[in-house]
Amino acid sequence: MTVRILGAFVCALAFAAPAAAQTPIVIKFSHVVTTDTPKGQGAERFKQLAEERTKGAVKVEIYPNSTLYKDKEEVEMLQLGAVQMLAPSTSKFGPLGVKEYEAFDLPYIFPNEQALRRVQDGPIGQGLFKKLETKGIKGLGYWDNGFKILTSNKPMHGPEDVKGLKFRIQSSKVLEAQFKQLGALPQVLAFSELYQALQTGVVDGQENPPSNITTQKINEVQKHATLTYHGYVGYAVIVNKGFWDGLPADIRTTLEGAIKDATAYEHEIADKQNEKALADIRATGKTEVYTPTEAENAAWRKALAPVQREMASRVGKDLITALNKETEGAPNN
Ligand code: LMR
Repeated sequence: MTVRILGAFVCALAFAAPAAAQTPIVIKFSHVVTTDTPKGQGAERFKQLAEERTKGAVKVEIYPNSTLYKDKEEVEMLQLGAVQMLAPSTSKFGPLGVKEYEAFDLPYIFPNEQALRRVQDGPIGQGLFKKLETKGIKGLGYWDNGFKILTSNKPMHGPEDVKGLKFRIQSSKVLEAQFKQLGALPQVLAFSELYQALQTGVVDGQENPPSNITTQKINEVQKHATLTYHGYVGYAVIVNKGFWDGLPADIRTTLEGAIKDATAYEHEIADKQNEKALADIRATGKTEVYTPTEAENAAWRKALAPVQREMASRVGKDLITALNKETEGAPNN
């Protein structure tokens, strides 16, 4: 009797095994921008490489443009394991308790992309990944978007022109301090709510790289843009740490390679996408694009200089010193 039951059990296992082997590991990758942005394309490239190189053992489901989770909840859902992968702007880690990332929001802290890359790939960027691990999050890499421009329905030549205007910001106390320093009124809103907030006048203006402006059609409801390039939007590519550590070692190694190559691809396309987006803003003709004079750029820098001192206690004086040391001497964009 026992042999028969044992035999039936082994047979059942045999039939089950191939089915079990075919059940892919699913990575849900949620983000808040459209697919035709640097981050959107980076996610698609990661999906392609991960699925190809694991021969289908991993399936990546991408949920773009806030279709699964919006700004506010996406990091929490990652911590809960409801989604496995994100690439939030580094401006959005303050609410999680990793305030140090807000140092990346300090006006003019990065003179150019090469300096930013040194920070991301060096002890500062990798050290911040360590802080994420205390929150159950594993940092896998840094993706680019680009330097931010300002938009509103008023001409903005110098810093005095934004006084009294309501500007949407990401959830960053440094960005809040930045606009308050200019006499503007900052308001945190989810990226998915930005277009409607501008269209209805809930806010007057916003800051973002051109690719985020055209892909959300923000330029259709903003009459003026000023090429201040006063700050940077970049992303931390992150996964749920428990999920990542629980992967079979060979799969994890393959995915590390896919992330590395997707990151190189994403860095390659980001500048081009922003250049094309700025050209599209000009071509659409609904937004007047203004380039500040040298004197006006100096006035923007002077007006925003106090933010570093003011926010040192929040992000860490030593971190600001390290950032300035890492980027000193680099030519401005
Ligand atoms: C924003 O919220 O303005 C951006 O961070 C959106 C994004 O992820 O690029």
